[in-house]
Amino acid sequence: MTSEFATDPQSLVAAASADFALCKDAVALANCKAQYLGREGQLTALLKQLGKLDPQAKAEAGKALNLAKQAIEAALNQREAQLAQAELDARLADEAIDVTLPGRNSSRGGLHPITLTIERIEAIFRSIGFAVADGPEIEEDFFNFTALNTPENHPARSMHDTFYVDLQDDKGLPMLLRTHTSPMQIRYARQHPPPIKVIAPGKTYRVDSDATHSPMFHQFEGMWIDEAISFADLKSVYTDFLRRFFETDALDVRFRPSYFPFTEPSAEIDMRFATGPLAGRWLEVSGSGQVHPQVVRNIGLDPERYIGFAFGSGVERLAMLRYGVGDLRQFYDNDLRFLQQFKR
Ligand code: PHE
Repeated sequence: MTSEFATDPQSLVAAASADFALCKDAVALANCKAQYLGREGQLTALLKQLGKLDPQAKAEAGKALNLAKQAIEAALNQREAQLAQAELDARLADEAIDVTLPGRNSSRGGLHPITLTIERIEAIFRSIGFAVADGPEIEEDFFNFTALNTPENHPARSMHDTFYVDLQDDKGLPMLLRTHTSPMQIRYARQHPPPIKVIAPGKTYRVDSDATHSPMFHQFEGMWIDEAISFADLKSVYTDFLRRFFETDALDVRFRPSYFPFTEPSAEIDMRFATGPLAGRWLEVSGSGQVHPQVVRNIGLDPERYIGFAFGSGVERLAMLRYGVGDLRQFYDNDLRFLQQFKR
């Protein structure tokens, strides 16, 4: 077909199709579209020239331009569809799951040996009628020392050098990280009338660090106060506890005189296995004693009427003995090769 125009509509269709094919994305295609169909576009320019033609030529040229426009639009739509499909394909390829890859195992966690040990201690004491209590690690001077018959300037405080916190209690004294679980004797007994029969496991802190001491460690406090609880009860309860904890009757227990400001008399509890790698060696496992009359008074009870015992034992110590761990720091290194051995 001969054309009345400077540009042949047919060649415009061919040029547009070629250009569209070169466009790599939707933005490029939109720019390309404007070049042909936009207000300043090449096809639009030809349409504007229609007015200058005589009616006969105008009808023919108009038809030709219309066909060209339809063809360009069709080419545009086709390219649009192609690009959309390509984008979808790329995304699917990107997100594809390769079902032939080996599966990733989700590894199951386990309880920490110290947690397992505390659970074991709690179960044994619960079974003989002890309650289990929990208390704050950031403690007031009063509960950690004063109420436990350890007033300011008492020499026993120096064995309990600890970490002080930038907080003050209501007496204006600095708060501290508790050096033992013994403050729970006071806290619990003030809230519960006798018979008071409780253990209180938890974290404690001291300025100490070597193979058998960590600045953070765990203790469990035990206390039984009633009208006639004696040292004999302490001896039977604690011996029974150790035998159940270590699952053997082949162990001896001895009470070695000691000193604590909050018990009188006081004793260290030592134990000795009859068999196994540690057989024959006395091992210190706990401090203990008869609750001091002044502590009974500080609780708010009459020491003429109420009497009982208390003990404070190291959880890590018992865990080390039970599992045969030589260095306490292993409990806190978070080495999975160590921890995995305790998985149940
Ligand atoms: N609180 C003492 C300590 O940490 C242990 C203890 C508790 C002693 C209760 C006697 C009675 O060493």
